[in-house]
Amino acid sequence: MNILVTGGAGFIGSHTLIELYQAGHTAVVVDNLSNSNPVALKRVAEILSIPAIPFYHVDIRDREGLEKVFAEHKFDACIHFAGLKAVGESVEKPWEYYENNIGGTLTLVDVMRMHGCKNIIFSSSATVYGDPAEIPITENCPKGQCTNPYGWTKSMLEQVLMDIQKADPGWNVVLLRYFNPVGAHPSGRIGENPNGIPNNLMPYITQVAVGKRKELGVFGNDYDTPDGTGVRDYIHVVDLAKAHVAALQCFSSKFQVPSSKSQPSTLNLKPSTIYNIGTGHGYSVLDMVKAFVRVNGADVPYSIKPRRAGDIATCYCNPAKAKAELGWEAKHGIDDMVRDSWNWQRNNPEGYPEP
Ligand code: NAD
Ligand code: WQD
Repeated sequence: MNILVTGGAGFIGSHTLIELYQAGHTAVVVDNLSNSNPVALKRVAEILSIPAIPFYHVDIRDREGLEKVFAEHKFDACIHFAGLKAVGESVEKPWEYYENNIGGTLTLVDVMRMHGCKNIIFSSSATVYGDPAEIPITENCPKGQCTNPYGWTKSMLEQVLMDIQKADPGWNVVLLRYFNPVGAHPSGRIGENPNGIPNNLMPYITQVAVGKRKELGVFGNDYDTPDGTGVRDYIHVVDLAKAHVAALQCFSSKFQVPSSKSQPSTLNLKPSTIYNIGTGHGYSVLDMVKAFVRVNGADVPYSIKPRRAGDIATCYCNPAKAKAELGWEAKHGIDDMVRDSWNWQRNNPEGYPEP
């Protein structure tokens, strides 16, 4: 398939490009580079030994810019990563988050349908479950109250896309709810490159280990978890990238949901739309720190800090649906995650160079 990858220069997008090409697909990237560096795309092309990844420096809110891309390419599907994702910033700048993430997606989807491309995989998030009603979280778990505007953009966009599919069965919408992506491509050439002080645990750990930050603050050790620190479902970004390739099969006319109690197998069944993408294992903050130190032999000083507003104690999924219907499951364990995160950081202490 030929795939439009919005946000393809970013962390998850760049890794997904590699898996797409290695599975025989081609891709065109649209990114406004607001949170990424075009060097990532150059390195993706190097890893793939191809001259370049077709790239448009276009904002998804720019209808004319998107029209030009669609005039020059025919797409079978879109994998839609483009969006702002910093939880804390979204509390400070809610308008910017709603306008970018929701406004951008509405424009993108409109241009897609004008050009007859009605297959989309959307980057959703475990954040839509709020404080989850059940652990491990299945896709049947009700959506919850998000604690920040970023989370609401994901929750609202899920609804927007499902309503569009309902009104026009020509659409195929796949919502992938990612848990906590970490790690990097094993080459160490691409990885997560946060601007400023990292919000997320793994880039904070790697920046402490490389000497850029003094110590990790562990946000709370009085949660109702085995060691008192927050438990999450960390997933290697290469596994996450492969989930997108697996999800493309939903757009094939031959795709069938394997028979299950809730969903008997029938020909031409409309694909189920929502998948949890995690490992199904929960690790605490201290599990991650200890694994990082054990595997990499690096030092990660830490101290216990107060809880972070909006955090929940435990969040991990049951990924059985993705396995049963897409044949996808995570293959990398915690040691791979901490090794590859460190390999990227160590080789690129300042992230990507200026283009
Ligand atoms: P990222 O910031 O590295 O990538 C997002 C990309 O989108 C960036 O390259 C950015 O420049 C681009 N972008 C933002 N707004 C744009 C716009 N208006 N037009 C064009 N390009 C735009 O983030 P990521 O970690 O790779 O996340 C990818 C997607 O997955 C996002 O939608 C994010 O919300 C979602 N997600 C991420 C996580 C996570 O923890 N990383 C978890 C769940 C869901
Ligand atoms: C993980 C654990 C922290 C940093 C966020 C978003 C979510 C999704 C993934 C996009 C928690 C603890 C963290 C630190 C710490 N993103 N921690 N010290 O909060 O599970 O999810 O990213 O959709 O929407 O909310 O991930 O990596 O920030 O935190 O102790 O410096 O690490 O308290 O228990 P989170 P995280």
